[in-house]
Amino acid sequence: MTTRPYVLLSCAMSIDGYIDDATTERLLLSNDDDLDRVDATRAGCDAIMVGAATVRRDDPRLLVRSERRRAERVARGLPPSPVKVTVTGSGDLDPTARFFSLGDGLKLVYCPSGVVEKAREQVGTVATVVDAGEPVTPEAVVADLAGRGIGQLMVEGGGTMHRQFLTAGLADELHLVVAPFFVGDGRAPRFVGEGRFPWHPGRRARVVEVRQIGDVVLTRYALSDRCRA
Ligand SMILES: NC(=O)c1ccc[n+]([C@@H]2O[C@H](COP(=O)([O-])OP(=O)(O)OC[C@H]3O[C@@H](n4cnc5c(N)ncnc54)[C@H](OP(=O)(O)O)[C@@H]3O)[C@@H](O)[C@H]2O)c1
Repeated sequence: MTTRPYVLLSCAMSIDGYIDDATTERLLLSNDDDLDRVDATRAGCDAIMVGAATVRRDDPRLLVRSERRRAERVARGLPPSPVKVTVTGSGDLDPTARFFSLGDGLKLVYCPSGVVEKAREQVGTVATVVDAGEPVTPEAVVADLAGRGIGQLMVEGGGTMHRQFLTAGLADELHLVVAPFFVGDGRAPRFVGEGRFPWHPGRRARVVEVRQIGDVVLTRYALSDRCRA
């Protein structure tokens, strides 16, 4: 049996736990130094995953920004940036989104069996659409990624993706950044919604690092025995 990838969750939130606001503009939570830290973490991963809503709303590039880090990856025999991964239940994806249009590396789209045809019509020329069964579970996705040689997976959001990995007990490490302001709008998305999480008042996660990065604070939590910190 192939070992599942090491799964690292990464999120930035406001003091009151929001990962975005309710406007159509993208909310900046991190600062430049923290974005550089995220870039270094990305460069150490084999794949980066975001949910389809984040692809549509944030239009992220999901590439390693630093030229030096890209060159170091290539020197190690890796592609300049990790494989990009998304999950969709609707198949509503735009092939011109930066997720698909930027970078030469592999792009994987996981979707339920009934949506494969639609997803292939939408993005089949710019990505590999994978039938992940019905319903799509994080277990099925990480098993497929393991079969593709992915050893380290970074999940960058949004909350729907984070909640599924956490409640499935498939997260090894969490990098949680708190930005120094409040959003204070119940219409905005939170880090995670409701769920039965493996960490609760009777089972506390282990803090492995707290670091101030300019005006934000990073806390790293070990969520499994596999966490190398
Ligand atoms: N602050 C941060 O660190 C950070 C990082 C990333 C994103 N964000 C924010 O997070 C918000 C989006 O978060 P979100 O929770 O709404 O969405 P999300 O997690 O980005 O994506 C959810 C979507 O992914 C697809 N999906 C997820 N799990 C699935 C499954 N098991 N089966 C089939 N499809 C599945 C569905 O796509 P379809 O709709 O296509 O069916 C679903 O609507 C945005 O506001 C974004 O700005 C913040």
